[in-house]
Amino acid sequence: MITLNRDAPETLYQQLFNYFKEQILSGAMKAGKRLPASRALADELDISRTSVVNAYDALESAGLIVSRERRGLFVVDKLPILYAEWMLSDGDFIPAAASHVSESQEFPSLISLSVGSLPVDFMPVEAMRRALNAVLDRDAGAALGYEPTEGYKPLRRAIADQLHSRGMNVKADEVLVTGGCQQAIDLAVQSLVPPNGILLTTDPTYIGLIDIARTRNLELITIPWSDQGIDLAGLETLIQERRPHLFYLMTTFLNPTGAVLSMQQRRHLLTLAATYQLPILEDGVYDGFDYEDAGLPSLRALDESGLVLYASGFSKTVVPGTRIGYLISSPQLYSRISRVKQAADVCTPGLNQRAMTELLRSGQLNAHLEVVRHACKHRRDALLAALQRYASGTWTWTTPMGGLYIWVEIPSNGPTAVELLQKAADLGVDFAIGASFSPNANWPYHLRLNFSSYAPPVLEEGIRRLWTAWLAC
Ligand SMILES: Cc1ncc(COP(=O)(O)O)c(C=O)c1O
Repeated sequence: MITLNRDAPETLYQQLFNYFKEQILSGAMKAGKRLPASRALADELDISRTSVVNAYDALESAGLIVSRERRGLFVVDKLPILYAEWMLSDGDFIPAAASHVSESQEFPSLISLSVGSLPVDFMPVEAMRRALNAVLDRDAGAALGYEPTEGYKPLRRAIADQLHSRGMNVKADEVLVTGGCQQAIDLAVQSLVPPNGILLTTDPTYIGLIDIARTRNLELITIPWSDQGIDLAGLETLIQERRPHLFYLMTTFLNPTGAVLSMQQRRHLLTLAATYQLPILEDGVYDGFDYEDAGLPSLRALDESGLVLYASGFSKTVVPGTRIGYLISSPQLYSRISRVKQAADVCTPGLNQRAMTELLRSGQLNAHLEVVRHACKHRRDALLAALQRYASGTWTWTTPMGGLYIWVEIPSNGPTAVELLQKAADLGVDFAIGASFSPNANWPYHLRLNFSSYAPPVLEEGIRRLWTAWLAC
């Protein structure tokens, strides 16, 4: 019996979506079961047919039901693995969900803990298929033509709205749509750092920033980021002595360590930037990908000086292959940066931009992200538990509140991370070595482990192999 609450904060369509989702995931509605016709259900519940159609659309986008031509809508034969794991991570034992998760428990010959993205079975395939079809039906050839270099206007508006909800006062005109966050960083660097100029970053830092500095022949200088945060006194001296052109950093869930810059350090950093008129490029690619609501306001949200540029995108947390990111700059810089973008690639593909706009506007992107976050949290906990089981007392590691990585330190009187990697690869597991996140090759005894790519039993097996490798070194 479906009961809907007209006074609840959730809309009727969301309640109906949740009702069917739980019925399907709990096994109460089995594979192949037909859903009631929308008109009949709307009459029975005394609600509009649109609410039912919207709920069915969302279920189809989530891959929980399929439409069979002229016969109606049916529960899918195979549940998306992402949903099954999400139900288990909620703590309830759900037989239907568990049976789907256990199907994936074969151990690959190489368990790669070095990757930096979500697994392909977490991608919102159905939602994207429907968004692309809707865009082509609606916009026809316009979806396949050139877009303005600045980006598809409705997408720029949707991004500005999303940033508003995170406390950032951004206008659509300040949003430049880019080919992923990587291009956003590159464009900002090209626009603000002259040839042979000085780029400042933290140590460790994002590996892609090191690549940009090297390929563009820039001098990369660093300030250490330890357990206590960034060395701000050292930073001030460095700024006075070297006068860098730009400071790039990730403030939330630093890749590789998962660290979050404290509120006090954020404010102090902004004061330094204003004092020395140092532009900051804040990389917020993991903002919002939070497991414990640990996120703090971004520097961009706190900034009053206009010195903070903000780069982010949708790759790390949803769909890397669409290559959609964005750069938020200032009215003074915007046209200069757009010209650099125009020279680089004319525009970001319009079809992808339009489909992403659909996903954002319909709320499907956020709904999907919510499920992905739950599943990733479940996987993070599984990797932490495996580390505890094998390496407790010998290795130490971080417990990241968001992002995709755990940063592990191995004893400095044993093998280095490079030596361990050689042995580990022989035993069928790999990881990213700490030194690759440092322009100075620091962190020789650190490893970055990704936890998003495998189901918990595979992660456990990966750590078992890694520990065996370490013992054998
Ligand atoms: C910190 C950071 N910034 C930017 C990127 C690039 O993201 P995109 O795929 O959107 O270009 C990555 C990808 O690994 C990242 O980790």
